[in-house]
Formats: sequence, C-alpha cells, structure tokens
Amino acid sequence: MSDKLNIIILAAGKGTRMKSKKLKVLHPLAGATIIDHILQTSQQLSPQKTIMVYGHQGQQLKSHLNHENIQWVEQINPQGTGHAVKVAMPYVDIDAKVLVLVGDAPLIKATDLKKLLKYSCALITAQVQNPFGYGRIIKNTEGLVEAIIEEKDATQSQKQVKEINSGIIMAEAKNLNKWLAQINTNNAQGELYLTDVPAIAHADGHSFNTVQVSDSNSIKGINDRVQLAQCETIMQVELTKQLMIQGVHMSDPSTIHIRGKVDCGQDISIDVGVILEGNNKIADNVSIGAYCIIKNCTLGKGTRIAAHSMLEDVITQGDCDIGPYARLRPGTIIGTKAKVGNFVETKKTTIGYNSKASHLTYLGDCEIGDNVNIGAGTITCNYDGVNKFKTIIEDDVFIGSDSQLIAPVTVKKGATIGAGTTLSKDAEAGQLTLSRAPQKTIKGWKKPQ
Ligand code: UD1
Ligand code: CA
Repeated sequence: MSDKLNIIILAAGKGTRMKSKKLKVLHPLAGATIIDHILQTSQQLSPQKTIMVYGHQGQQLKSHLNHENIQWVEQINPQGTGHAVKVAMPYVDIDAKVLVLVGDAPLIKATDLKKLLKYSCALITAQVQNPFGYGRIIKNTEGLVEAIIEEKDATQSQKQVKEINSGIIMAEAKNLNKWLAQINTNNAQGELYLTDVPAIAHADGHSFNTVQVSDSNSIKGINDRVQLAQCETIMQVELTKQLMIQGVHMSDPSTIHIRGKVDCGQDISIDVGVILEGNNKIADNVSIGAYCIIKNCTLGKGTRIAAHSMLEDVITQGDCDIGPYARLRPGTIIGTKAKVGNFVETKKTTIGYNSKASHLTYLGDCEIGDNVNIGAGTITCNYDGVNKFKTIIEDDVFIGSDSQLIAPVTVKKGATIGAGTTLSKDAEAGQLTLSRAPQKTIKGWKKPQ
C-alpha cells in the first residue's frame, strides 16, 4: 500500500445557516478561524498535497490562507459533498491515499485521523446520544458498513441508529475515482452525496472500516452559530484544562478564554474573566487579576497584574505591579520592582528598575530610567499632529504631578520637575525645574450674582 497521502478539504458550501456575509469556515474559534484549526490538524499528518475545494466567496478564503501551501480547486455550482470531491480528484496523485475532511468540523484530532491510514478505506464515526442531523452508519450483521443514510433520507428505524458519520473518509485514489463515478442524485436533497461511496464500495467488495472516536465531541460539525459557540466551549474546556495540568491556578476556568498559544510556568494564578490572546509567555508566580486581557506578552517571574488591565505586546521583567485599570500598549517594557497603576496608558515605553507611574498618566515614546517617580496626571506630549517624538527621563528623576513633557525632551539624571510644569526644554541634572505662573489673589473680588 502507498504511503503517499493527499488531503482534500471541503469548504465550498454556502454556510447558509450561519446567516452571515462572512464565509462559514472563517468564523473565529479559539483565537483562529474554523479552517485554521482543520488545516493545522491536517498538516500533522504530513500530506504530500492539500487540496482545498472552495466555492461561494472563495476569494475570502484564498486571501486568508494565502501563505499556505494549498492546491486550490473551485467547485462551480456546488451539488453536494460527493460533487466537491469529484471536482478535486483530477488534482490527486493517483497512487495516493485520499483523506477527505469537511471544512466545518474543526475539533477532529490528528491521532484519530492517523488511525484511518492503516486501512485501504475507512471512515470516522462516533457514538452519540442525539444523532439528529448527521448521517447514520448502517452496518450488516457481520458489522460491515453497508451504507450511510442522511437524516433527510432515513427511515424511522434508521433514525434510531446512534453511530453517526463524521463526514471524514479515506480511500485509495483509484478506488475512490471508481466509486465516485457511480454516485447519483436519487436522494431527498437531490445532491451528489459523498456518503453514498461506502455503499458502492461495499457492493464492490471493499467494505469501509470504521474508526470510532473516543470523544464524540471531536466530530462536532458547525452549521450555525449555536454549534459554533458549542465548539468554542469544548475547545476552551480543553485549553484551560491543559494549563491547569501544567500548574496554573484558575479561579473559574469556565470564564477564562484562551485565544492562541500560552507558554506557562508554574504557580501562575489567573482570576475570573481573563482573556489570553495570541502568543503569551508567562513565567512562574505571575498573577493575573479579574477581567484582564493579555495579548502577545512575555511576563517575567512574579509579575502581578491587577484587575481590568489590558496589555498588548508587553514585556515585563518580573516582580512588578501593573493595574488595576492599566492599559499597556505595544512596545512597553516594564522593569523589575516597577509599578504602573490605575488609568496609566503606555506605548513604546520602557520603564526602568523600581520606577513608578502610579496614577492617571500617558507615557508614549518614552524611555524611563531606574528609580524614577512619575506623578499623577503626567502626560508626554509625543505627537505634533504629524510626527512622533521621544521623551527621555533619566535615573532618579522626580516628575511632579500634572506635568506635560513636550517631546523631544530629556529630563536629566536626578532632576526634579515641579508640579504643573509644562516642560519644553531639557531639564538639568540634579536641579529643580518648573514652569508655573505666579499665584495671586484678587482682593475684594465678588462672585457674580
Ligand atoms: C455531512 C454529511 C453527513 C455528516 C456530516 C458531519 C454528506 C452528504 N453528509 O452533512 O453524513 O454526518 O457532514 O458533519 O456528506 N461542501 C462542499 N461542496 C458542496 C457541499 C458541501 O464543499 O457542494 C462542504 C461544506 O462547505 C462543508 C462540508 O462540505 O464544509 C459538509 O457539508 P454540509 O452541507 O455541512 O454537510 P452536512 O449536511 O453537515
Ligand atoms: Ca456540516
């Protein structure tokens, strides 16, 4: 038997039940799209070829996957899953095994797909309590697959069958071509069903083997948004479980969402409502408070993030405090022992060892040294409407509250800036600099009546 594997992914259906302008397989699931998950799983089998059958709104799909090594095949005028595979067959290597995946069942596991490859023809099934909507696997008394009957074509007694079709089948290319030539549209939907192939094969003396998945969730198909949400929940249960097994504490895993990859140490604590997006690296003893959003961050050992903070493309060096209600935007680096408190926004800003911006501040395009104190209400004026400029704050500086630092500007080592200063020129090292109109009192002033 050939070791060559070609995979066909069916994604030409209209996805009418999603009620969406967006192509069904491009809907989001655990930080990626439905089709991304299928493609990623399929690539674990190292196929020689991956053929994607597209149709309606195919351009959306092509541009989403434009970096992937895919053979694109258009199914004009889709007439069912059997038709979709027929359209793809001319692109298949004739000496290959062909694995057909449905584009809308993203939870299937590579380990189950690999089991199919031991046979010359096989399909994936599951035993479920509620088989409604799926094709039923009809076996004869010897346990051989005689046919698959779609819900809409099934008799009352066939509907009682609880072994369902995943939509995923595998066969040798030559045989598949021969069997596909015999399918027809004599069925309730007037379509060319791929699911007619096993009955034709059985009559031809090649009964399909069945690989039953141990977890029936893994063959769940997505036809509407309810099923999409169910798949999301199934994935989140799995993803949060993986992190807990690695030593992460979660106050309530059902409220935590993982939308990407997390590289985790131990004794990390994650409170309710946290979203982890993209690629995050989280070291030991990090704690993340309730309702934080952490995207593409590297959090050093012992970083403490208090509730309702939002961090994107941030690096923390560890043992530092962030939030509550902090917003750290891309390019922020937080040093050890540093503190960024409530209602502080940073962007492209480095904060050094033991430096603090505890409240109500905007720090953009800014380099802050060690042991600096940034008073409440400090604003870096980094933008003149066209260009961005840098603010440099050297070690041991104290910036008084409600100051504006008009970039480009440097506050030299050990300088103190008086509260309420508008700093437009560099501040000298070790000196007090302030700009402040003298205070006066208007004697005898009367309140308007
Ligand atoms: C299909 C199976 C059913 C199985 C179920 C599992 C058939 C006839 N039925 O039903 O036995 O239990 O999947 O989820 O195969 N597609 C095309 N071109 C077409 C039609 C469909 O590319 O002309 C694609 C769709 O985009 C989708 C996949 O094939 O990704 C399955 O099609 P869908 O219409 O969702 O089939 P089901 O009714 O779910
Ligand atoms: Ca489906």
